[in-house]
Amino acid sequence: MDEEGKNIWDTFGRWDELAQLKDVADVKAAISGRDLFVPNYASSATQYVFKYANDEVTLSDAPVSPTIVDFGCGLGRNGPLLRQHFPRVVGYDLPQMMERMRAEDPDLAASVYDDLYTSPDALVANEPFCALYDSVALQHIVDFDFHKSFLTTLEANPRFRTIITLYFKTSSGVPAHIDVLNERGWTLWHSEEDVLSFRGIPHNAAVYRRPDDRQAI
Ligand SMILES: C[S@@+](CC[C@H](N)C(=O)[O-])C[C@H]1O[C@@H](n2cnc3c(N)ncnc32)[C@H](O)[C@@H]1O
Repeated sequence: MDEEGKNIWDTFGRWDELAQLKDVADVKAAISGRDLFVPNYASSATQYVFKYANDEVTLSDAPVSPTIVDFGCGLGRNGPLLRQHFPRVVGYDLPQMMERMRAEDPDLAASVYDDLYTSPDALVANEPFCALYDSVALQHIVDFDFHKSFLTTLEANPRFRTIITLYFKTSSGVPAHIDVLNERGWTLWHSEEDVLSFRGIPHNAAVYRRPDDRQAI
């Protein structure tokens, strides 16, 4: 739901409700598919982009600790992967999902994620993140206004320049968040088919970069 109570999700379901399913195995199945609750694959191109995003902020005039946002982090499936590449990893999800992560795996919530957020304003106020990783979370949000507002809020952070987004292929065109990224002038740097993360089920792994005229750090 957005702030006005409008359902923002696709037909897959309401994530505030899915987060609260009684059996955690059902939550995991909703997140990644049954028996697929293992970290995603990071191709050599993705690893290069992770390094690039790190270097960009550590080699800048005002260096900061490279921080990545795991958007829609769910139960933290990809936290350990991101941890290998960034000294600071923060999770972002709905309050219901964050509560479930803490309840199911308090150690993971505390040791893999440096912090957990549920509001874009708090995220921007507290974290000079340089990159956002999205594993099939933005895709489930079909509301253009959500994406426009969310991205505009995050763009208030001048260090935020890279988005890595993973989404499954459908016959109904590109997901709404890709349209909004294009509309706001973000540039596609890289795209590849990822058939490893979901064990043979093809996904797009795409890297978007912020346009030059908004790059002042
Ligand atoms: C398919 S799951 C992917 C979870 C995780 N990225 C992974 O790969 O394991 C989609 C995630 O997006 C989250 N999500 C959906 N709408 C959201 C929103 N408006 N804000 C934050 N997270 C959201 C859901 O709660 C869920 O955890």
